[in-house]
Amino acid sequence: MLQVDHLVKEFRQGDNKITPVKDVNFQVETGEFAAIIGKSGSGKSTLLALLGALDQPTKGSIFVDEVDIAKLSAKKLTAYRCADIGFVFQQYNLVPNLTAIENVMLPMEFAGVPKAKRLNRAKSLLDQVGLEDGKQLRRPTRLSGGEQQRVAIARALANKPKLILADEPTGNLDSQTGEHIFGLLHSLTRSEKVTIVAVTHDLSIAGKTDKTFKLVDGILHEEKPQKKS
Ligand SMILES: Nc1ncnc2c1ncn2[C@@H]1O[C@H](COP(=O)(O)OP(=O)(O)OP(=O)(O)O)[C@@H](O)[C@H]1O
Ligand SMILES: [Mg+2]
Repeated sequence: MLQVDHLVKEFRQGDNKITPVKDVNFQVETGEFAAIIGKSGSGKSTLLALLGALDQPTKGSIFVDEVDIAKLSAKKLTAYRCADIGFVFQQYNLVPNLTAIENVMLPMEFAGVPKAKRLNRAKSLLDQVGLEDGKQLRRPTRLSGGEQQRVAIARALANKPKLILADEPTGNLDSQTGEHIFGLLHSLTRSEKVTIVAVTHDLSIAGKTDKTFKLVDGILHEEKPQKKS
């Protein structure tokens, strides 16, 4: 479970102070898929960086299960990012000179998983995200955007994280491929029992997640699903 209480992030530049995250409170249950929407510059990426412990909050707490990651030491934070969090980005961020399967194996290498086990899990994850056998041995430049994002999702799952954070995961894809990728993420919350928080501009997709939040002026509001008549 992810529980965020009174989260604040302030940036200071000289005498200027901006507060893209003012007082954010929300909760996402294990195995739920939550979307965060909001205008450009509303603080979505800033919030995601706090959840992923890539940046430190000015105030507030972020509980992932029982641990408040806002209070961890630098050393424990590195371990937390490696073991408990998977990141998916708009630009895929795959390592260009590694094949698809090697990209998925990489985080497991950092976590000290033996080679045979790494290979097995990477193969099974790529099968699960729907990347065909032949394509698993290709480098990213020889894969389509949608295929690269499938590899990036498999890589995010490699170390069995508790939480996957995705920043505009379908931002570079056409709408149909984007829907497939979101469908895939949704099914993974169930099969891998992972919690996913995804930032998106795509309202048609946001409406299909378990929960949707909107970030307005640094405050997060839950959007209640509209009843169909
Ligand atoms: N390191 C930083 N130092 C100072 N200001 C920052 C920093 N990072 C972000 N900001 C500012 O915080 C605000 C929120 O930025 P953020 O990147 O979180 O927006 P966003 O909602 O992700 O936008 P987009 O949809 O365009 O990606 C912006 O005004 C941005 O300029
Ligand atoms: Mg952003």
